[in-house]
Amino acid sequence: MATGSGQSRLWHPFANMAEVKDDKFVVDRAEGVWLYDRDGKRYLDGTAGLWYCNVGHGRTEIVDAVAEQMRRLDNYFTFNDYSNEPAEELARRLSGLAPMDEAKIFLTTGGGESIDTAAKLARLYWARRGEPERTHLISRRQSYHGTNGLGTSIAGIEGNRHGFGPLVAEATRVAYDDAEELRAAIERIGAEKVAAFFAEPVIGAGGARPPEPGYLEAVAKICAENDVLFIADSVIGGFGRLGGWFGVERWGLRPDMITFAKGVTSGYLPLGGVAVSARVSDVFWEAPGAPFMHGPTYSGHPSVAAAALANLDILERENLLARSRELEKPLHDALLRLADHSAVAEVRGGTGLIGAVEIEADILAGDKGLITRMQKAVRERGAIVRVLCGNALVVSPPLTITEAELTLLADTIEAGINAALTA
Ligand SMILES: Cc1ncc(COP(=O)(O)O)c(C=O)c1O
Repeated sequence: MATGSGQSRLWHPFANMAEVKDDKFVVDRAEGVWLYDRDGKRYLDGTAGLWYCNVGHGRTEIVDAVAEQMRRLDNYFTFNDYSNEPAEELARRLSGLAPMDEAKIFLTTGGGESIDTAAKLARLYWARRGEPERTHLISRRQSYHGTNGLGTSIAGIEGNRHGFGPLVAEATRVAYDDAEELRAAIERIGAEKVAAFFAEPVIGAGGARPPEPGYLEAVAKICAENDVLFIADSVIGGFGRLGGWFGVERWGLRPDMITFAKGVTSGYLPLGGVAVSARVSDVFWEAPGAPFMHGPTYSGHPSVAAAALANLDILERENLLARSRELEKPLHDALLRLADHSAVAEVRGGTGLIGAVEIEADILAGDKGLITRMQKAVRERGAIVRVLCGNALVVSPPLTITEAELTLLADTIEAGINAALTA
């Protein structure tokens, strides 16, 4: 293939380029829940790209909205007092949907930027409140918060933090499933030094792990008791993936900030942001002469905002949040059929349209490349899944998928696992 034989100059994220440069899977086009390669072979998009294509592929409504906006005002910035109507409208709409009082919406170009925005806002909030020593950031082991500076510093996936030299020192990780560890960490560090606690409602990249019952409610309470800002990282969880707009509604949470990205445009254009509660934003919006010296060039990009608005229209009109809630059990049930497989250690799911099939450690231990061969065998049989944590095949399909396609997805995973085991 043209991209093989050492010809490619494209450096892929999270990839071993020594291997990938000569062996790529080139996606040519997509429609609904299906991807097509250059030979016209189709694959079920079992992951909605990287957890983002919630409305499915090929939505001409989004394409048209972006084209129309580009013809009118292609791009312009929102620094200082510059604004544009799509960005204003998007902020109004997201504010109305966010589970917090009078949410203000800071727009970025992705999840990692949103995490760093929220972390900087948290620290600055405390500094402006006269508590500049509140700088410590707490996160959970196994959590993923992007690859920017602060997000890397609070990463709970060990491998994502190492090799880069010293990171932000005031960062502590606690168990992802034990709220009491958070309480103990706050006591040890001193609440007066802790700025914020970050939590993905369902851990995504760290292996698709739903929270233990009561865990999220408990950590939210511990944060409130200690005056620590509670920041929900709903970059994956939002816009229907966990059944609500901002990924936290099913637990009745009202975080101080929520980071979002991905499903806000279903990935049609890159967008992220932070929904900021009045508690935090008042310090900036009500006090004169105190700008937040932060923001990416494309914050509030009008054409990207137009994509998000069209995407929200589709999510609303087609009731895709309710559909996600309806499909989470069928997805889990379909995967649970693999739970008795001799190579399967655990099936996770049932909270949102996210699931994982973890492979037995002793089977993987003897064969380093096996899990990747499993993923590729699934793909050869017509479905896309991802390997996470080196031991799990993870799925997060578009919210438009049918129950029959969920069954097909699980069947294809099983066939791929079997084929890799017997090869
Ligand atoms: C929970 C979470 N936070 C942050 C990010 C980073 O987002 P981005 O890749 O858009 O920077 C991701 C990406 O997968 C994520 O899953």
